[in-house]
Amino acid sequence: MLEPLSGYRCPVDGTRAPAESAPWCCPHCRGPWDLDFNAGSVRAVRSGPQVPSLWRYAAALPLRPAKGTTPAVSLGEGGTPIVPMIRGISAKLDFLMPTLSFKDRGAVMLAELARRLSPQRVIADSSGNAGTAVAAYCARAGLPCEIFVPEAVTAKKTEQIRAHGAALKVVPGDREATARAARTAADTPGTFYASHVFNPYFLHGTKTYLYEIWESLGGRLPQALVLPVGNGTLLLGAALAIAELHAHRLIDTSPALIAVQSAAVAPLAHAHRLDASELLGETAAAPTLAEGIAITRPPRARQILASVRESGGTFLTVSEERIAAAQLDLAARGLFVEPTAAACWAAVGPGAPDDPLDGRSAVLPLCGAGAKTGLA
Ligand SMILES: Cc1ncc(COP(=O)(O)O)c(C=O)c1O
Repeated sequence: MLEPLSGYRCPVDGTRAPAESAPWCCPHCRGPWDLDFNAGSVRAVRSGPQVPSLWRYAAALPLRPAKGTTPAVSLGEGGTPIVPMIRGISAKLDFLMPTLSFKDRGAVMLAELARRLSPQRVIADSSGNAGTAVAAYCARAGLPCEIFVPEAVTAKKTEQIRAHGAALKVVPGDREATARAARTAADTPGTFYASHVFNPYFLHGTKTYLYEIWESLGGRLPQALVLPVGNGTLLLGAALAIAELHAHRLIDTSPALIAVQSAAVAPLAHAHRLDASELLGETAAAPTLAEGIAITRPPRARQILASVRESGGTFLTVSEERIAAAQLDLAARGLFVEPTAAACWAAVGPGAPDDPLDGRSAVLPLCGAGAKTGLA
């Protein structure tokens, strides 16, 4: 049974579809869905039982497990530590998730949704981490799974996807070519497209990143959140949770969202600089060490740009040299993350010019493990 409150709604043209039978994208504009869902309050969570999984926020999740039904899919995800770094900046260690990236937060939601819908197969496309997370959670849920990846994906990530028992489809060309191949496959009957971009349940999983910060800081948020942005799933999840905490009067201020892109692939930073509400023209797929945020045409661009602007935040871009230096600097502090996960540290850490945070307190995610890629 799906939650009665949950249905899909297109943020562009208002088209609606029931969660049980919706196509993977809006049939009119072919864009991603939002979820029509009023999250409950997580007020009681802090005094509730310490369940080691993301389902501790069930009150605010669209797939809350009903009493007497099979327990929701879980690998004990979430509850990652926050450690102080420098000058009021803390890092949340999301590379300590079961598959070593923050994508587990969204994958657990998609696997639970797929388990309830019982498709013939689950597919996903990914630059690596979302694919490993979906493959792992499908393994946990006993669902057959195929993951589409670009040919340049890191060998350790493809090894992990295969190890979880998923079929691997390596697509020639760039990340966009992989997304196109998956979207074609997604139209096949009996397929559940576990898209971290198009399926809004993913964002209701990534929003737990923000709920955990709120809970760890004793019911408060920092003045700024620094977030890596490719397709924007962590940033949009955080924005969703901030809106929900406000709606339940659990916070009275909002952090500025500081979005970080690689200078090599920065379509959103470019649009923000020119005060545009949509992407401007085509962005070339230039090589970058930050493979996880190398997205030339993020389908949720409009929502990402609006969220950053409304929060009073901005976009920062980082060069390849600074990403590589930030990965080394973090490792020298005991934290070995992949280059993509070092982008935020490159943007606001000790190697950043001036003080891009203007002295504000901030939390940034270290959201992918160095063991998955090695050093840049
Ligand atoms: C480690 C890491 N950080 C950040 C991102 C960016 O996430 P998103 O594309 O949802 O903005 C990814 C995406 O794959 C990633 O793997």
